[in-house]
Amino acid sequence: MPDLDETIFGPEAKQLLGKLGFLDAKADLLKLTSDLRKQGHEPQLVALCISQAKLRSRAVSKFGSDLASTMLFTEEGLEQATRQQVAAWHAQKFLTHGIKSVTDLGCGIGGDALAFAQAGLEVTAIEKDGLTANFAKHNLNNYPMAAVSNADALKIESKSTSFWLDPARRKLSSKAAGRVMLKPEDFSPNLNFAFEIGAKHTAGIKLAGSLPHELIPEDCEANWVSHNNELVETVLWFGELGESGKRSALILADTITEYSGDLIQAPISEVGKYVYDPNPALVRSHLLGAFAIENGLWGIAPSIAYLSSDSELSSPWLRGFEVMESLPLDVKRIAKRMSELDIGTLEIKKRGVDITPEQLRPKLKLKGKNAATLILTRVGDARKALVCQPLS
Ligand SMILES: C[S@@+](CC[C@H](N)C(=O)[O-])C[C@H]1O[C@@H](n2cnc3c(N)ncnc32)[C@H](O)[C@@H]1O
Repeated sequence: MPDLDETIFGPEAKQLLGKLGFLDAKADLLKLTSDLRKQGHEPQLVALCISQAKLRSRAVSKFGSDLASTMLFTEEGLEQATRQQVAAWHAQKFLTHGIKSVTDLGCGIGGDALAFAQAGLEVTAIEKDGLTANFAKHNLNNYPMAAVSNADALKIESKSTSFWLDPARRKLSSKAAGRVMLKPEDFSPNLNFAFEIGAKHTAGIKLAGSLPHELIPEDCEANWVSHNNELVETVLWFGELGESGKRSALILADTITEYSGDLIQAPISEVGKYVYDPNPALVRSHLLGAFAIENGLWGIAPSIAYLSSDSELSSPWLRGFEVMESLPLDVKRIAKRMSELDIGTLEIKKRGVDITPEQLRPKLKLKGKNAATLILTRVGDARKALVCQPLS
């Protein structure tokens, strides 16, 4: 049987992939497979190309259609790859500090490495998994200043002084997965290895947005990053790339919005005229309290990340709502009130209460012509449903 790698890199695969383009979830794969088989293509080639065409379709949201239509992915590699707009920001960070070359220890299919190369950095990319490394080589083959090696980052001797690491969460045994606390060895490469690199060199380390703060070393800058209103990563910058001890939340869009502050609690009080849903990066950075105090806002219950005020505030960090009514979180009362207000279109948000929008919605039998937002949450000790209108 031909080698899997050889098949996907061969001229026949290239031609077939070009013909298939992007295959989305609606494609009739059974018919397509049978048609391609009838045209004389080998079953393994057909299966591989269809799988790549499906992955390429999913990759468009991360890489855009031009890049996605030429790249090769593994399922896991695509899932773990950094979105290009975010990776381009990583690259800029190195460039603006005058750095010319980066060693990427665990490059996956090359999401970050590609952005480094596109920005003009010389890239040495190391990947432990053979197939993933070959796909990264393919994905970077237009960039002569980028080299990919299939090797274990823990065993290579590198003379580099600037590093990028994006450790993957290891698949844990069911016993270990039940642990509450994450450990450095739950990541690959191991976080202790990554932090040692950071302690000795200039380095950026990308980790999950949900990374427990206890795992973050003191001597680095930590950024919680949101993109398209999703929390996408916590990045730790070591050496000249960061300011030791600084903690900030960032919104990455065409421009970068940054909030940096102290780790303090917001005051708690009753719901005011307005309620705000903060950007997830601000929430996970634990800078929400400092932001609230600086902007005259308050929390509405301990550990609940909604803020409130009596005067309207517009901020890129907040989605605001005017509170029209505050109801007890009682399904029958909410249903009755929705009917009286003639609500047919309802956005349901929730924090800190166990009922889900999916459970509640069918019970409300919404059929009116008005729209509203319902926020299910705790206010002090009470469970409340706040009937709101979004601020424009
Ligand atoms: C989260 S992915 C990197 C994704 C990449 N930044 C991107 O944007 O495509 C982490 C990668 O590190 C690789 N890896 C884990 N441990 C490694 C090691 N010791 N040496 C080299 N690569 C390793 C994994 O196989 C995985 O592909």
